[in-house]
Amino acid sequence: GAPVSADISALGEGQRLVLEWRGQPIWIVKRSKTILDVLPTLDSHLRDPKSENKDQQPAYITGEARSIKPEISVLVGLCTHLGCSPEMKAEIRPEPFDPEWKGGYFCPCHKSRFDMAGRVFQGVPAPTNLLVPPHHYENDTTIVIG
Ligand code: FES
Repeated sequence: GAPVSADISALGEGQRLVLEWRGQPIWIVKRSKTILDVLPTLDSHLRDPKSENKDQQPAYITGEARSIKPEISVLVGLCTHLGCSPEMKAEIRPEPFDPEWKGGYFCPCHKSRFDMAGRVFQGVPAPTNLLVPPHHYENDTTIVIG
């Protein structure tokens, strides 16, 4: 499939833009500083906090935030278990059913939980982090996927 581009200039904190690329939903999410600050505190509850499985993202995506610009997260919006579409919860607060999960993405099919970098929690069916598609910035406010 051809690359697709998106203008992110109007994207506000906690908001998500959804595109389609190669028949898959692509999420572009703007994260607040509060969200970014929480990411490193979650590492001990995650299966692969440093994204060492290199099949999950391009080589230029490293670190806990898993992004080129810290605040902008780009993910394939499909659960890595059986491909359901996770729900986004961008407010940071503990959930009664899992106090370690402070928001991020929740898969309604079999309850897999991911943080706001798409990193998977331990003890859920999804085997890997959400995928980061290949992407780059054409200019400050235009992202190209593919
Ligand atoms: Fe998401 Fe099974 S498809 S947990």
